Amino acid sequence: MTSLLSLVVVAFFALLFCPGWCETYHHVFHVKEASYTRLCRTKKILTVNGQFPGPTLHAYRGDKLVVKVYNIAQENVTLHWHGVKQPRNPWSDGPESITQCAIQPGSSFIYTITFTDEEGTLWWHAHNDYTRATVHGAIVVYPRHGTSYPFPKPSGEVVIVLGEWWNKDVNAVLEKALETGGEPNASDSFTINGQPGDLYPCSKPGTFRMLVEHGKTYLLRMVNAAMDDGLFFSIADHLLTLVGSDGSYTKALTTDYILISPGETMDLLLNANQSPRNLYYMAARAFSYQPVNNIDNTTTTAIVQYKSHYTQRSTNPLLPTLPFYNDTEAASKFSFSIRSPAGMHWPINCPQRFDQRMIIAVAVNELECQLSGSCEGPNGTRLSSSLNNISFVNPPIDILEAYYKGINGVFGTSFPSRPLHYYNFTAEYQPLELLKPRLGTMVRVLEYGATVEIVFQGTSLVRAESHPMHLHGFSFYVVGWGFGNFNEEKDPLGYNLEDPPLKNTIGVPRNGWVAVRFTANNPGVWLLHCHLERHLIWGMATVLIVKDGEGPEAKLLPPPPHMPPC
Ligand code: C2O
Ligand code: CU
Repeated sequence: MTSLLSLVVVAFFALLFCPGWCETYHHVFHVKEASYTRLCRTKKILTVNGQFPGPTLHAYRGDKLVVKVYNIAQENVTLHWHGVKQPRNPWSDGPESITQCAIQPGSSFIYTITFTDEEGTLWWHAHNDYTRATVHGAIVVYPRHGTSYPFPKPSGEVVIVLGEWWNKDVNAVLEKALETGGEPNASDSFTINGQPGDLYPCSKPGTFRMLVEHGKTYLLRMVNAAMDDGLFFSIADHLLTLVGSDGSYTKALTTDYILISPGETMDLLLNANQSPRNLYYMAARAFSYQPVNNIDNTTTTAIVQYKSHYTQRSTNPLLPTLPFYNDTEAASKFSFSIRSPAGMHWPINCPQRFDQRMIIAVAVNELECQLSGSCEGPNGTRLSSSLNNISFVNPPIDILEAYYKGINGVFGTSFPSRPLHYYNFTAEYQPLELLKPRLGTMVRVLEYGATVEIVFQGTSLVRAESHPMHLHGFSFYVVGWGFGNFNEEKDPLGYNLEDPPLKNTIGVPRNGWVAVRFTANNPGVWLLHCHLERHLIWGMATVLIVKDGEGPEAKLLPPPPHMPPC
């Protein structure tokens, strides 16, 4: 009996980590400039292997990918494998100034991407300055051989990468924003697999088409790679069934639209059950609280087309209706309906208790203008942003190196576990003295194995917005959310600890809060930040350092032989 039990236990761990039969695959990424024409203009963009969006990586659960990156472009780059936990190996995680310095033009770096329990769709993207605007692609993680999806195997699958396009060079957009202190220019279009689609000038010939056969079911593997906007997405006359998100399965959730925030991924089933005589648009447009004059209010489309023998068919595709761009309710309704499968085969591991709770106020801020004239932020100020009122400043050498080598003076460890003072975070008007953050490179150190709850508290400083918060190195369970201020006494009573979704990115509702839980069992240096790029560059970030635990399996790995020099 005991031997049978130990066999089961051994088999379980073998399945979990599968040392014997997991494979290692090698890829080469050339980061280089390429010319692309969109919206009637041609410009040079940064790409991987000349492709936009970049190549899709494929793996089976538990595999390892080794990606050798040659930077043959004119600018720095780093790459991040969004949603891959990279156990004990932050050396390959990628965010500049956090876990590495940039791969400079003419040099190379080898990333090791270690999959463990991720299954579904994830993505990779550049992680320095604005480079990720065009340097990104999907990661598809299939079930291991002999196992299957928790839904009937689809007849086909298609990767859908949503993106954002500027007519200008994206570096110029970033530079101007930093120089003037104002909002970065809104994009000129959104894209589906790199194409704006029929509703934009000069775009018809390129529009992405998805061919389907009547009666079959397809898996859409969707990534929101846009820089600054959540996106509502829908397909005319068709329902979508969400079955996974952020590399984990979900309970099937059928809906006529979805919201996908920057950083999120969604696995959606599409049942091709409508008339083959029509063409159907899939469409996406912004979910945003930007001032009206700074919103990209355009709609990107692609076409769902049935293979059919009919000669006459309509030539005008049907457009789906999408929620209005600031429809908070539509956004929250979808996002917070997502649940884990939480069944026999898909156990959930949500900490029922926590060792420590952090409450993090998420804010847009204002700093004094340092120009001779006035800045373009509100009232002539320079825009900034913060977590618990600390606006993150990138250190001169990366935090991982400083931590590993014990170099002092690079970062501080006093990132507060609560807001320094409690104001009415979501009030309509805020006192001016709250607007200015402190600047610093502050991290939070966690004990190995600690169970942690983080409550992200949205604020109305400068402007209330929805913030897609993303944690590197982990997935977390989303156990609660609400509008207004988090109430530490009452709100936890309403938590869902039964079937909370497992995510790596979660949109904090505008003027609301969201609570997440995870176990700090991945030693290393992990960035925590808002995935709206403008907020990240203004400082809406901090770092969690998880200390080593007992035993060799609980310790940070040593660095690879060649890290890019700072
Ligand atoms: Cu999608 Cu810091 O990452
Ligand atoms: Cu944000």
